Amino acid sequence: MTEAVFGSPAGQVLVVGASGGIGLAFVRGLLALPGVERLYAACRQPEQAIELQAMSQQDQRLQLLTIDLTDDTSIAQAVAEIQSTTDRLHCVINCVGVLHDETVQPEKSLRQIDGDRMLHYFQVNSIGAVLLAKQVQPLLKHNQLSVLATISAKVGSIGDNALGGWYGYRASKAALNMLMKTTAIEYQRTCPKAIVAVFHPGTTATALSAPFQRNVPPEKLFTPEKTVDYLLDVMGQLKPTDSGEFFSWNGDRLPW
Ligand SMILES: NC(=O)c1ccc[n+]([C@@H]2O[C@H](COP(=O)([O-])OP(=O)(O)OC[C@H]3O[C@@H](n4cnc5c(N)ncnc54)[C@H](OP(=O)(O)O)[C@@H]3O)[C@@H](O)[C@H]2O)c1
Repeated sequence: MTEAVFGSPAGQVLVVGASGGIGLAFVRGLLALPGVERLYAACRQPEQAIELQAMSQQDQRLQLLTIDLTDDTSIAQAVAEIQSTTDRLHCVINCVGVLHDETVQPEKSLRQIDGDRMLHYFQVNSIGAVLLAKQVQPLLKHNQLSVLATISAKVGSIGDNALGGWYGYRASKAALNMLMKTTAIEYQRTCPKAIVAVFHPGTTATALSAPFQRNVPPEKLFTPEKTVDYLLDVMGQLKPTDSGEFFSWNGDRLPW
């Protein structure tokens, strides 16, 4: 039988950015899988995440944690909490990302470039992911198959950039891809059963894409549930030789 990431007993999962559109759908989708024995769901303010709170009341497998990916200490504290109950994870899914918030709006032209705002994109979209890769590494050093999955974006592909614009978001996702590719190379030495991969979720109806959905044909705008079905299917079929690759929601490999 092929070893599967979400098959019993390989079922201890961490979702970071669990309060977001895609993150929350991952939590729901994973709890529906019988192979998932324990699910740690992390976000910046779990006490305010109403859906997560309700789900954790109903399902003993779900434990809520606090992680702000711009704060290394908060990641270390959450990992220590996980380590107080287990020495291993089989799947870590990072769904954190920012395109627009109170600090940034995607730039349409060079005139809108601002160094401090660009830094915000890199802190949340790129650096946070590699801090997470550093902190979860001890939990992925075991002899069962595991996945460190990071939700990136196709607009972070340098080879695929035909439209321009969105300087900070694009560049921070390209940096994210390089950081995860580099992580994959180190993990091959330190935790060879851990597959490190980045994913394009497809345009998904969440708060992040809400201001930009007008010109997206309905068949190309996925619900978060549909996106997660696609991504879990791709993740569930990953092999160690897939580590260090960039996948689309349909399993296609994307150019860097
Ligand atoms: N939606 C799309 O069409 C689309 C397309 C391509 C790629 N993506 C990528 O998919 C991922 C998920 O996006 P989404 O559509 O689900 O967006 P979303 O609903 O806006 O969720 C974004 C998540 O990121 C979290 N976050 C932001 N800053 C954070 C920080 N400093 N530390 C920890 N968490 C932080 C948010 O947490 P809070 O609740 O605490 O704010 C939220 O959970 C992102 O990486 C995004 O770039 C999305």
